[in-house]
Amino acid sequence: MNHTTPSRNIARLKAWAITATVLTSALVVVSTQGQAAPLPRIITESGRHALLVDDKPFLMLGAQVNNSTNYPDMLPLVWPTIHKLHANTVEVPVAWEQLEPTEGHFDFSFVDALVRQARENGVRVVLLWFGSFKNAGPTYTPEWVKGDTNRFPRMKTHDGRTHFVLSPHSRTTLDADKKAFVQLMQHLRDIDQQHTVIMVQPENEVGGGGIARDYSPEATRMFEGAVPTTLVDGLHLHPGTWSQVFGGRAEQAFNAWHTARYVDEIAEAGKRILNLPMYCNAALTNPFQPNGFGGGASGGPDWGVIDVWKVAAPHINLVAPDIYNRNHEAYITYLDDYTRADNPLMVPETGNARDFARFIWPVLGHGGIGFAPFGMDGTSYANFPLGAEKLDEQTLDAFAQPFAFFNPIAADWAREALAHPTWGVAKSEDNADQSMEMGRWKITAQFGLWQMKDRNDPRNKPNPTETQPIGGGVVAQLGPDEFLVAGEAIRLRFTSVENQNWQFLDVQEGTFVDGQWKMKRRWNGDQIDQGLNFIEPVLLKVRLQTYR
Ligand code: DGJ
Repeated sequence: MNHTTPSRNIARLKAWAITATVLTSALVVVSTQGQAAPLPRIITESGRHALLVDDKPFLMLGAQVNNSTNYPDMLPLVWPTIHKLHANTVEVPVAWEQLEPTEGHFDFSFVDALVRQARENGVRVVLLWFGSFKNAGPTYTPEWVKGDTNRFPRMKTHDGRTHFVLSPHSRTTLDADKKAFVQLMQHLRDIDQQHTVIMVQPENEVGGGGIARDYSPEATRMFEGAVPTTLVDGLHLHPGTWSQVFGGRAEQAFNAWHTARYVDEIAEAGKRILNLPMYCNAALTNPFQPNGFGGGASGGPDWGVIDVWKVAAPHINLVAPDIYNRNHEAYITYLDDYTRADNPLMVPETGNARDFARFIWPVLGHGGIGFAPFGMDGTSYANFPLGAEKLDEQTLDAFAQPFAFFNPIAADWAREALAHPTWGVAKSEDNADQSMEMGRWKITAQFGLWQMKDRNDPRNKPNPTETQPIGGGVVAQLGPDEFLVAGEAIRLRFTSVENQNWQFLDVQEGTFVDGQWKMKRRWNGDQIDQGLNFIEPVLLKVRLQTYR
């Protein structure tokens, strides 16, 4: 079975639109001391993307802390894990309930502690705003919001009962949330001229938990009315009611539109203060089920309504999948769905169990700008079965290995991935070979092999990696016959697509120093006779040639 030639993947390797698009403007903040720190921003060139930090491409090797780690006393339990992991970014929540415990009175002490300690620890921050929505519920709203369902109305169920989730149709709730978020962004603008905080996630896994939409009489009236022109025009659809236009996914699309408009207004207000990249994360439904509400968080940027979100939320730079599904095919399908010319791929949350670590390779192969396992701190909470049973050394090591490898070359990788087509793989459950054609070359990934031997060698004995969920690799095509290659627990073979004779001209192991390639040694002989075998991560620059 070949997992790696879906048309969507091939499509991204083809020539993209030529015009370079800058998704956010290159504004520069000038600090009170007079130093200028360029705003982090996302750029898109030829359909590929990069996050720029300090005006340089930045690959986010992230780690998200547990939910209740958002208090100063918890921070000492964060940094040792971040360092062991070799992460360059920490994703941390700031909750509405802690920022505005009493209406109109704001407490920034946690934000101050976080930003200061992140600087001391040499990492960047992605701030997660737990506001009206956290996991499709209002649990992080202040008590004065939770307790006043007249002022801050909840959704209504089919039979008129009050549901748990706040209605996205409430102007009062939106304004109150926006006011708090704006305060947060103002504070950030004042204390963070150097942009330790590189991105902001307004809300968390938005949508209606366990409910397709609000069934209040007003919401139903809107649902029975026409789909807004902006949306039908934006999607090139014929006008009509939600059911006429969206059929089976009408309620989900309706809630997606209103929820995305809600979040977009909050993001827009925040960006007016401090124009950082902003993204929304998605609670994902089964990637193989037809579109439509089948449980989970209706209205969030789930894979089936990315198109609606793209039109509804122009101030959200990207929508991002939180991937807790360990199945290889499902994981890759999600990556395919969220990799678009109009949507940079970033995985802001993934399970922290050992078998998720290998997916960093296909994330990078999809041109991903960031990857972050969830639950990375020393508070000893474990979200099994979503992630690991325990964050022990072996589990941490699985992520630390690729992170330590990419950390010193993160800017170089991000730069090359912006400029060149990329392809990445992770081992699948059935250990099958995976392949991709890039120009004149076919690249085949194999797993669970000894370095010298082929799978069918009669003297073979199973390699220990054969049954383990480890192994992955990534390539960037620097030129027609030149590749940057990296991987771990993988063999990568090159062959000519046209079946011509071919040879390695030059295989260099090396690294980047000050943006320039620096060779450590040449691979030859055994190191290339059976393909390129990676045990621990290594960076190679490979030149190939066909001959008659
Ligand atoms: C996804 C959410 O975004 C996280 O905050 C967390 O609740 C995980 N699910 C589960 O641990």
